[in-house]
Amino acid sequence: MSVSPENYRLHDLPPLVDLHCHLIPGVDDGAHDEAESLRMMQVALADGIGTIAATPHAHRCPANRVPEKVARLNEIAQENRLDLRIVPGIEVRYDPNLFSRFEAGEFLTLNDTRYMLLELYLSGSWPKRVMETIAELHEAGVWPVLAHAERYEDVQHDPAILLDVIAAGVPVQLNADSLAGRPERGAREAAEYLVSNRMAHLVASDAHNSRWRPPLLHAAFERVAELAGEEYARTMIANATAIVAGEPIALPRPDVVSRL
Ligand SMILES: [Fe+2]
Repeated sequence: MSVSPENYRLHDLPPLVDLHCHLIPGVDDGAHDEAESLRMMQVALADGIGTIAATPHAHRCPANRVPEKVARLNEIAQENRLDLRIVPGIEVRYDPNLFSRFEAGEFLTLNDTRYMLLELYLSGSWPKRVMETIAELHEAGVWPVLAHAERYEDVQHDPAILLDVIAAGVPVQLNADSLAGRPERGAREAAEYLVSNRMAHLVASDAHNSRWRPPLLHAAFERVAELAGEEYARTMIANATAIVAGEPIALPRPDVVSRL
C-alpha cells in the first residue's frame, strides 16, 4: 500500500531543510538545465522543503562557481514565486590529500557554516586515514558531515565501522530514497539498521533530478518515525535546520544491539 499524506504520522512539521542536492544545472550529474532545476524545486516545495543546499560534486564544479549559480537558482525560485531558499554547498569526495586541498580553498562549507559535506568511496576499502583527516578538519574548525553512509559497501557489511566516526562527532547523513524510495541493493537494510540503532542523524535527498532520486524528504521521515519513534524523526529534522544555521548538534550515543 502506498503511503499518502493523510496517513502520515508526522504533521505540523517546520519547513524541511535538504542538505544534499544536485540542484545546480549543467555542472555535474544532477539537473541538466534550468528547467529541470525548476521542476526539482517545485517537487521539493510540494513535499514541505523550505531550504535546499545546492551541493554539486567538488570534482565537477569548482567551488568559486557555486555562489553565482546559487544566486541564479534563487532568482528562478523568486521568478516562479516559490517560497524556497537555496544556499551554497559542495560535496567533497574523500582523498588522502583532502586537508591540503581544503587549505588551498578548493571546497565550500554548507551555507558558509563550519559544516562540510564529505563522501567516501562507495566501494573498496574504508580509507585508512579517514579519522586523521576528520581530526585535521576539526582542528581547522571545520565539521565534516558524512554523506549517504548507508551506500558504502563497508558500512553495509559492518555498520559498526561508523562508531569511531560518530564518536569523533561527525553527523551521519542518509539518503531519503534509501528509507522510502527505490534504493540500490543493500542500502535500505543499512539505512534502517542505522536509524534503528541511532547511528544516523540526518536525512537528505541527494537528488539528481525530479524523477530519479527526487528531492523528497517527508516519506523518509515517516519511515524514521516508524523505526525509531516520532521524536527521533523530529530531532533529525531539527538537526538539518541547526546545520544550515551553523549551530552544534548533539549526537546520541549509538546503541548497537545487533549485526546486520
Ligand atoms: Fe551527492
